[in-house]
Amino acid sequence: MKAVILAGGTGTRLLPLTRLMNKHLLPVGKLPMICYSINKLKEAGITEIMLVTGRHAAGSFIEFLGSGREYGVSLTYRIQEEAGGIAQALELAQSFVGADRKFAVLLGDNLFEEPLNSHLERFRQQQGGAMVLLKQVPDPHRYGVPVFDSNGRITRIDEKPVIPRSDRCVTGIYLFDESVFSLIAHQEPSMRGELEITDVNNTYAAQGMLEYGELSGWWTDAGTFESLLEASVKLMELSP
Ligand code: DAU
Repeated sequence: MKAVILAGGTGTRLLPLTRLMNKHLLPVGKLPMICYSINKLKEAGITEIMLVTGRHAAGSFIEFLGSGREYGVSLTYRIQEEAGGIAQALELAQSFVGADRKFAVLLGDNLFEEPLNSHLERFRQQQGGAMVLLKQVPDPHRYGVPVFDSNGRITRIDEKPVIPRSDRCVTGIYLFDESVFSLIAHQEPSMRGELEITDVNNTYAAQGMLEYGELSGWWTDAGTFESLLEASVKLMELSP
């Protein structure tokens, strides 16, 4: 299986830290944030990785990570010209993923403890479609929040709802088959002008093709000052 790490975006919630440096190169514990996504994929046996980022940051990523050899992975880079949304960044990986393939996507600011192996194995057995990983959080309104039917299936995901329908959020760990690219190609930008990953997942949900797993262990989206600090402390504990 291949994987795509999305490390573009504007990082506005971390200004001024992100004025000069892409969010995913900021230090977390002893390493730049991007290293944790790479390590998690490698731990799960995925070594063919595409990194999507913006044009201003691309040089720094290449300088730091190079071919990936030092980290035991093989890296391919693509540039997202503007931060047009997570689904727009993902679309850039189509030729890298190739036809008839299942693959993994990590949002580069998602940091977590549990190895991905068992989730990947379940997805390999799945008939196609998509799988998201959920996590119980105290502040679901900050995230995509699943809505369940009486059989426990996800009927839709609400993006940053004012009144969350669940205490679980959709983490930035996604597993897709290649049909995701035709879904994105037919998608319209949201009110904020972005191609939203939640709209993609909602199309899968409407087709009955969205499965989910529960992520155990610690998880954070290190996109705010508080969560970035929490991630640094936690990751120092986990790998002192
Ligand atoms: O962290 C999980 C959450 O991530 C999910 O619960 C939400 O459903 C999902 O929409 C997303 O929400 P965020 O508000 O955290 O997304 P953010 O704009 O911070 O972008 C997340 C990552 O995606 C970040 O690491 C950079 C990358 N990205 C984002 C955009 C908008 C790109 O590579 N390109 C982009 O254009």
